[in-house]
Amino acid sequence: MQLPLRIAMVSAECAPFAKTGGLADVAAALSRTLWKRGHQVRLFVPLYGRIERSGLQTEPFLSPFPVSFPGWDVPVAVRKAPLPDSENADGVPLQVEFIHSPELFGREELYTNDDDEPIRWAGFCRAAIEACQRTGWAPDVFHANDWHTGLLPLLLKSTYGWDDLLRGSSTLLSIHNLGYQGVFAEDAIRRIGLEGVRDQFHQERLAAGAVNYLETGILHASWLSTVSDTYAREIQTPEYGHGLQGLLAQREDHLAGIVNGVDYGEWDPATDPHLPANFGPNDLFGKRMCRDALLDELRVAPEPSGPVLGIVSRLTQQKGFELIPEFAERLLDHHDVRLLVLGSGEAEQESYFRWLRDRYPAKVGVHIGYDNGLAHRIEAGADIFLMPSRYEPCGLNQMYSLKYGTIPLVRSTGGLADTVERLEDGSGTGFVFYEHTSVALEDTLAHALEVWRDPETWRAMQLRGMAQDFSWEAQVDRYEDLYAAIMADLQLA
Ligand code: ADP
Ligand code: GLC
Repeated sequence: MQLPLRIAMVSAECAPFAKTGGLADVAAALSRTLWKRGHQVRLFVPLYGRIERSGLQTEPFLSPFPVSFPGWDVPVAVRKAPLPDSENADGVPLQVEFIHSPELFGREELYTNDDDEPIRWAGFCRAAIEACQRTGWAPDVFHANDWHTGLLPLLLKSTYGWDDLLRGSSTLLSIHNLGYQGVFAEDAIRRIGLEGVRDQFHQERLAAGAVNYLETGILHASWLSTVSDTYAREIQTPEYGHGLQGLLAQREDHLAGIVNGVDYGEWDPATDPHLPANFGPNDLFGKRMCRDALLDELRVAPEPSGPVLGIVSRLTQQKGFELIPEFAERLLDHHDVRLLVLGSGEAEQESYFRWLRDRYPAKVGVHIGYDNGLAHRIEAGADIFLMPSRYEPCGLNQMYSLKYGTIPLVRSTGGLADTVERLEDGSGTGFVFYEHTSVALEDTLAHALEVWRDPETWRAMQLRGMAQDFSWEAQVDRYEDLYAAIMADLQLA
């Protein structure tokens, strides 16, 4: 492999600066690990209003330049700030390059329903490409992520096709979630200045009056990847393909599945600063203290005889919590368990969990909102972590749970199927169910409650989970191989 690789990572989210879900963790950790290995990485992220208001100190890097759309020149500058804990062997941190455009990104939310949403994300891709041009730096691979950066491969071929500098740059589009595709009215094509390459968009979609950014990326990226092997297979089927299964199946030879890693610098119970007590596989006493403190923090009754069930999640259809109401009252009436929920999302799910808490105040603790510290404390203090996802491209929380001695209870789909091994005689790390039904979930919970009464089996399962290693190091080997394969493809072409 040619070393170092030059990778331009382009992502709408990056922890700790801007996060709504796992994309933020992945973009930050993958870039950090590549950088620490000595690769040249440039990481482009929008400078959202909320980052500016957070007081983050950024330094000017590139002075304002115009990104031109028909009838609108948007001034864009690049500012930079170091990514935490990213020092390479020379002690140099990776600088996040923030795309500074108050017109496009000076808003409170990352994603909006505003009229110019299609222009915002075209502008982001263009600003990242132009930042490379203006510094005379050609990446081997532009690594785009999700629909927000779906236009990047086509932009590179069309708007920037004239530039010899970028002729050797390939594109990788990572799909973190097929459920979000960036679909807009087709006049977006004119508004973003791509009328001249109208024929490069999916024609049936256009005929139906729409343009789909993720689909456009799937059509034009040199390679595609997604965040687990199982999801890479699932998305080629009608059940999981969200309408794009046919296109994805056509590109199967250029579609890789690589499970996400865990940033153990951030998620390790032995060092986690968010916990009231630290612990590890050799001494689980601290976990007991975390559990007691957590029950207190979420104001439920102490010392249950049954397990503490934890949920930390976006509350959306994807995550499968609609299976819970069917049996929750039965569970809470008959067992001395606790259910602790941290999440936000769809109003119906939020109000259901609030309602459940009001009905069982001693047993159910609910925090609607986003709270990173509490997410860590639930991972540490719970006994069982619930992820009944309808679909789950990778999922990170089940891997965090394993490290924290908290047994994941998951539906077998996507990355959950690839990272949690079902309990069998003397092996396995979690509880797994298959059918997306309340009955299957309730049965599996009943099995978990049974195993809970056998502390030896429980402890052995905890220890097997804590010994799992999902660190980024191993996964980055696979990305390096993939980047190398993508570059080799270009040389063959
Ligand atoms: P997704 O990206 O689909 O939301 P992942 O499991 O990949 O799912 O990642 C979710 C990430 O967001 C995890 O790091 C999780 O701890 C975090 N998270 C989700 N909801 C919340 C919340 N309400 N408060 C704090 N962290 C949250
Ligand atoms: C998405 C998926 C999640 C995955 C994350 C990071 O938001 O829903 O399963 O872990 O992206 O890749």
